Amino acid sequence: MAFLVGLDVGTTGTKTLLIDERGQVIASALAEYPMAVPRPNWAEQDPADWWRAAVATIRSVLADSGVDPTQIKGVGLSGQMHGSVFLDGDNKVIRPAILWCDQRTAAQCQWIHEAVGYETVVAETLNPVLAGFQAPKIVWLRDNEPENYARVCKILLPKDYVRFLLTGEYATEVSDASGTSLLNVPERRWSEAMIKGIGLSEEWLPRVFESPEISGRVTEEAAATTGLALGTPVVGGGGDQAAGAVGNGIVETGVVSSTLGTSGVVFACLDEPLTDGKLRTHTFCHAVPGKWHTMGVMLSAGGSVRWLRDALCSEEVAVAARLERDPYELIDAQADTVPPGANGLVFLPYLTGERTPYPNPNAKGVFFGLSLMHDKRHLARAVLEGVAFGMRDSFEIIKAMGVSFSQVRASGGGAKSRLWRQIQSDVTGETHWTINVDEGPAFGVALLAGVGTGVWSSVQEACTATIQTAESTQPNPDAHRLYEGYYTLYQDLYRRLEGAYDDLARLLG
Ligand code: XUL
Repeated sequence: MAFLVGLDVGTTGTKTLLIDERGQVIASALAEYPMAVPRPNWAEQDPADWWRAAVATIRSVLADSGVDPTQIKGVGLSGQMHGSVFLDGDNKVIRPAILWCDQRTAAQCQWIHEAVGYETVVAETLNPVLAGFQAPKIVWLRDNEPENYARVCKILLPKDYVRFLLTGEYATEVSDASGTSLLNVPERRWSEAMIKGIGLSEEWLPRVFESPEISGRVTEEAAATTGLALGTPVVGGGGDQAAGAVGNGIVETGVVSSTLGTSGVVFACLDEPLTDGKLRTHTFCHAVPGKWHTMGVMLSAGGSVRWLRDALCSEEVAVAARLERDPYELIDAQADTVPPGANGLVFLPYLTGERTPYPNPNAKGVFFGLSLMHDKRHLARAVLEGVAFGMRDSFEIIKAMGVSFSQVRASGGGAKSRLWRQIQSDVTGETHWTINVDEGPAFGVALLAGVGTGVWSSVQEACTATIQTAESTQPNPDAHRLYEGYYTLYQDLYRRLEGAYDDLARLLG
């Protein structure tokens, strides 16, 4: 029997899975690490934490499974997208990595649009340069930390730093590279126009592979550290969204996913690089050769519920700990006692700014309609509903692009909540399906490792062999009708508050 390993360098932790060639999960391990917020709107991590977590979780799945490392045919890597790891000439990390949810680069985005020309940016990358993407972080380093900028010799994405330590190769793959603003997305190669226009050196960038291609092999040093066998192939893998989509079987047109993690993503596979006219969704290369995808990305989906838990639900957290239950189950139970619409309370989930449908780093969270009748239960329901309205924005944009689909697959931590699945289904009017194996990006890249090493002949074949739908949640027509009115109000509130968000940003300096 052959085995495969998938490793996902997430924002809160690194997860490693060991699966067999039938797609059965044999062992899984998670190691968490902190995120630093040195200033409001900043988000940084120490890449050494990713490597420590990668080593610990690989060692743990090897020990738990008892699998002989030489039977592992390949390793796939996934990770949080858009982050930047700056390496010097000795491959030392120059400063903490700046993450996808960091919003410090508004001025640098504008500068790139002017320096390269907005039309060229869009023609090459199919997207505007957004505050979380990688290229403006490089320009930020140039503008704000010139002594660090002067030392830069290589710039890597988070999972590609782990790849470097595993294989000694500077390599990436098309799906994650799409989120740098430096890739020619239609042609799936680095963009000379972007690199020259910004004044970077192509030498700083890793080699780009297709996601199932072998990008390198485990070195002697990494084998000794992780317990993997020397020479184990490491495939390109994917940015967490494309990898998660492979793990959900979103590898052909007609099926889309709705993933609620820290971020919230509606993801559709495309046969050609189609864009939304207003560029509100991101069109990137898919982790499937010859395919692209478009996705709407909300920055604070599960993140909003986590905020609710941390800010207002210490009691639920304490009770859950005593009962050995998940605090989110208790929060859900409270929200479920309140009718749809939360008795007129509407939540705007822009706690860390927003990307889709409003690429606005200044947007903030709002509870609208608070009255004396509302208590924590209403706040909880309003948060779940507000995130569902935000996800609906992405569904609407994708449909308006002419992308048709007949199935929605619900995934991510949020898909575990029956109530939240129902709310999503009621808000969108779509049936939401769970799948048999909701292991996210780590599963997707384990499949890609299987494709790259000959276990399956294509990504589509790997998905058909291992992924099936499980439970469906149908929309309730009454709730759907009611939510139509709330959704219109939700959209209207952002428009009315847009100027106020800028006023607040000015007050905050
Ligand atoms: C995708 C995105 C997030 C991060 C973190 O564009 O920013 O999905 O990759 O999960």
